[in-house]
Amino acid sequence: MTADRDELIARYRTVRARTEALAAPLVPEDQQLQAMPAASPTKWHRAHTTWFFETFVLAPRGVAPVEPAWAVLFNSYYEAVGPRVARGKRGLLGRPTADEIGRYRLIVDGRVIELLAGADAAALAALAPLIELGLAHEEQHQELIVTDIVAAFAEHPLRPAYRGPIAPAPRQGAAAWLELAGGEVTIGAPADGFAFDNEHPRHRVLLAPYALSTRLVTWAELDAFVDAGGYATPSWWLSDGLDWVRAHHVDAPGYARRDGGRWLVFGPGGEREVGGDEPVLFLSYYEADAIARFLGARLPTEAEWEHAARGPLAGRHGVAWEWTSSAYAPYPGYRAGAGALGEYNGKFMVNQLVLRGGSIATPPGHVRPSYRNFWPPDTRFQLSGLRLARDLEVRR
Ligand SMILES: [Fe+2]
Repeated sequence: MTADRDELIARYRTVRARTEALAAPLVPEDQQLQAMPAASPTKWHRAHTTWFFETFVLAPRGVAPVEPAWAVLFNSYYEAVGPRVARGKRGLLGRPTADEIGRYRLIVDGRVIELLAGADAAALAALAPLIELGLAHEEQHQELIVTDIVAAFAEHPLRPAYRGPIAPAPRQGAAAWLELAGGEVTIGAPADGFAFDNEHPRHRVLLAPYALSTRLVTWAELDAFVDAGGYATPSWWLSDGLDWVRAHHVDAPGYARRDGGRWLVFGPGGEREVGGDEPVLFLSYYEADAIARFLGARLPTEAEWEHAARGPLAGRHGVAWEWTSSAYAPYPGYRAGAGALGEYNGKFMVNQLVLRGGSIATPPGHVRPSYRNFWPPDTRFQLSGLRLARDLEVRR
């Protein structure tokens, strides 16, 4: 058990340090910004992920919170835990300060590590899955730290660049179609190893023969869509999508503008020219669906995506989250866990679509083939693009 303990403590330190490294380039004033209700301030992410360990690891073991009054500030959505500040008002939490939140993090880190260091074998076995969940949760918030500060900086007329530790996007290869026979395939997370509850249970799905593109849709293809009047051509769009385009006067992906023949996109690292084989980013589901239709294809289902990710797509680094056509719904036999942690995923299984893959802002090692990300269809402040799919048989 000693090795497991040391590994767990080391992983805890690594993940917690990465959050602080992501926040380090941001001054306290930056960390206060909330661009919209769906995006949270950096310092709130730093505090909420800490509250998560206090609430679900330390408190059940009799460790009192650092500051009991802060629970209402840093509870996100857990009804069973108690009241909370409305999501859209997190930017109004001027206090505690960013420095105080830094100290809060250090105190909780000391307590968690002390607990792990002193746990006997049985206690450690019970703690390990909770620590893994807390760290996976923190990694989800690490991606949000990036997307949420980009949302804030995008509103700043001087366009400040976020320069946190993010790996550059790998180049995409040439476009080709991977053909898959399908049949009865198994998706979902295996019983061993960490996975979120929404990746269970593992189950069988019947897939007709299909093809998936080896790469994500590029800015050159988006260019063709825009040149063809794609944003204004009703036949490419879902009804809700067309309503959304018209209501918000959408004529380009989020944070993107065309300047002459060039696409300029604001993202992590500031505004820059994109092109060539780089994937389109900051797309809503509605846009992804319309662009796929324009290109004579469709979005993959999440089962098609996962089956390919366990085969020919295995090991491809996530460049952008890929919208699928699958509604975010419980797998057959899914049951949310008991208690407050049962609220983690299950209660959000309506009115959202599944995204697969991972982006340049996704922490290393965070995703796996069964990983399900999910957002409402009009979301486009995430690093979201699309991969094309098509049927290999004419279905009647
Ligand atoms: Fe959270």
